[in-house]
Amino acid sequence: MIKIEKPTGKLGVLLPGMGAVATTFVAGVVAIRKGIAKPVGSLTQMGTIRLGKRTEKRVPKIKEFIELAELNDLVFAGWDIFEDNMYQAALNAGVLQNDLLDKVRSDIEQIKPMKAVFDNNYVKKLHGTHTKVAKTKYDYAQMLMEDIHNFKQSNHLNRLVTIWCGSTEVFLKPDPVHETIESFEKAMKSNHPAIAPSMIYAYASLASGVPFANGAPNLTVDVPALVNFARAKNIPIAGKDFKTGQTLMKTILAPGFKARMIGLNGWFSTNILGNRDGEVLDDPDSFKTKEESKLSVLQYILQPEVYPDLYKDVFHKVRINYYPPRGDNKEGWDNIDIFGWLGYPMQIKVDFLCRDSILAAPIVLDLALFLDLAQRAGMKGIQEWLSFYFKSPMVAPELYPEHDLFIQLIKLKNTLRYLKGEELITHLGLEYYD
Ligand SMILES: NC(=O)c1ccc[n+]([C@@H]2O[C@H](COP(=O)([O-])OP(=O)(O)OC[C@H]3O[C@@H](n4cnc5c(N)ncnc54)[C@H](O)[C@@H]3O)[C@@H](O)[C@H]2O)c1
Repeated sequence: MIKIEKPTGKLGVLLPGMGAVATTFVAGVVAIRKGIAKPVGSLTQMGTIRLGKRTEKRVPKIKEFIELAELNDLVFAGWDIFEDNMYQAALNAGVLQNDLLDKVRSDIEQIKPMKAVFDNNYVKKLHGTHTKVAKTKYDYAQMLMEDIHNFKQSNHLNRLVTIWCGSTEVFLKPDPVHETIESFEKAMKSNHPAIAPSMIYAYASLASGVPFANGAPNLTVDVPALVNFARAKNIPIAGKDFKTGQTLMKTILAPGFKARMIGLNGWFSTNILGNRDGEVLDDPDSFKTKEESKLSVLQYILQPEVYPDLYKDVFHKVRINYYPPRGDNKEGWDNIDIFGWLGYPMQIKVDFLCRDSILAAPIVLDLALFLDLAQRAGMKGIQEWLSFYFKSPMVAPELYPEHDLFIQLIKLKNTLRYLKGEELITHLGLEYYD
């Protein structure tokens, strides 16, 4: 059994970006604490885990099985380029209804954003003034570290985690300056363009000893310099891009087709959404970052190189259309051209009227609690067992990512069993028939 430190005291949750996802998460946690609503969608709060043989009937709740921080022990802070406090920002996001927000108003109104590290070259559509001013990117990192330190001191926090809930930045390729922490720090000091604001937050978080997860598709912490920095400092990290909406559906349906050896000719996905995220993604450079993240999923799940007869020529197209009237209530259409026995074609149409931030908020909660668990269990670097939550899971350089939601869930639960010294479940089950 692995030694896991007890989650004593308060856990601070730092949120760069206080938009739709972050506010829905924080207002939601407060509402749940007050008993107004249930934590639907959260594995840490509602999920169970089977232990031992099926005949043993040991199926505790995950939160009773393993030491997770309590919701009552979470304390929130964030940064944003707009001055709105958490209540105003939640109102603007338009995800949660006013009567629910009124009930949590006094709790969340006090959460005022700290000034952001922001640069319009990386997010072109937004223009905010609540930003820090410094000479170099390294200086910005020091200012963020000071924010983190002050938040911890003034709230008497025991531990912290950071979850990036900021906008999607423009597409960046890995650059030689991302290779080592020395080249990364040097690049920060010379304001190198390959260092995006989200990377400065990731660096500041890790330099402060705080685990970091990335909810957007940006490179951010997924560069060798920061992965190795996290390992050297014994800090867990995870990313990228919360798996919600259409991609969640894809990673549920595609493994099913492959399991039954059903072929695929094409998958056309289109969305309309009207929130700020949609506005940011209206910029082709930010969309490119998102597109890369969304497209890779089918390739990895279907393995065309292993099943050329079924998946060699899949035409996969993803479109996101900014359409303000819809706000956060996105609609995603999928047209899926499949084929079966003797190559006979069939079609599936999915029309998903989803609420992006309602799907993302429980992911933020689970990631905060599981990253904190990982930290207390001495796990460091990339946490592949948290792939369950991401569209583009981070993995070791020699590996391909695992996208199948059900394999990801088995991996996650087996990691929890491993941490607690319980037998891993292989689903072999022959012993029941001996
Ligand atoms: N909602 C989902 O289902 C979902 C799924 C996957 C990924 N994501 C990603 O999560 C992120 C947040 O989504 P959202 O819907 O809350 O978007 P949002 O636009 O409502 O919120 C993002 C916030 O980040 C702020 N911001 C931008 N750059 C910043 C910086 N450098 N420092 C501090 N704040 C900054 C913006 O001002 C904005 O308030 C986006 O990158 C989005 O692509 C969301």
